[in-house]
Amino acid sequence: MKNFGQKSWMLPQPVLIIGTYNADGTPNAMNAAWGGQWDAREIMISMGAHATTENLDRCPNFTVAFATKDTMVAADFVGIVSAKDDPEKMQKTGWTAIKAKHVEAPVFADFPMTLECRIVKKIDVSEEGYYIVAEIVNIVADEQYLDEKGRPDFERMQLIVYNPIHHTYHAVGAPVGDAFSAGKALK
Ligand SMILES: Cc1cc2nc3c(=O)[nH]c(=O)nc-3n(C[C@H](O)[C@H](O)[C@H](O)COP(=O)(O)O)c2cc1C
Repeated sequence: MKNFGQKSWMLPQPVLIIGTYNADGTPNAMNAAWGGQWDAREIMISMGAHATTENLDRCPNFTVAFATKDTMVAADFVGIVSAKDDPEKMQKTGWTAIKAKHVEAPVFADFPMTLECRIVKKIDVSEEGYYIVAEIVNIVADEQYLDEKGRPDFERMQLIVYNPIHHTYHAVGAPVGDAFSAGKALK
């Protein structure tokens, strides 16, 4: 076994697109890999100091979309360019922003599924950012990505994940088993 010491190599990482409104009411988006489920109704995100962070300081509402093969290039773009530096940032993505129904934040119609969220807690607030714990207020999904039972179809969404070792995005593949069930074979 080879040792690598301390690395931020939690594998795989999600490709989350955080949607907020700028001070002038225009939408913004950023890419976040350091996030996940916090408890049954809440998620967490590790936020640095970004235009998005300033937006969240003004209004604790945001959306989280899950990046896909089709949105990959623009999803990476919003992770490497700040709205502070490029006023045309969102026009360049080509994404269509509509207002979320339940929170004051944009939903980007180009993504199959989006969480509408409201911050309930900020942890370790400093000039460098903070950790957000946020309630999932609602989940909205494009009908064309629903399965025959009306639930979001994981495979049809063509989600991507982030590999922090090689800094690459990877397509999520076909299912290989049923959770809470496959293991019963060894009981
Ligand atoms: C793959 C990837 C993952 C990222 N993950 C995070 C993250 O978890 N937290 C964070 O604060 N910034 C993260 N970033 C950086 C922000 O997305 C980036 O600084 C962005 O330009 C901020 O945009 P804004 O200033 O317009 O809000 C990530 C960027 C990339 C490309």
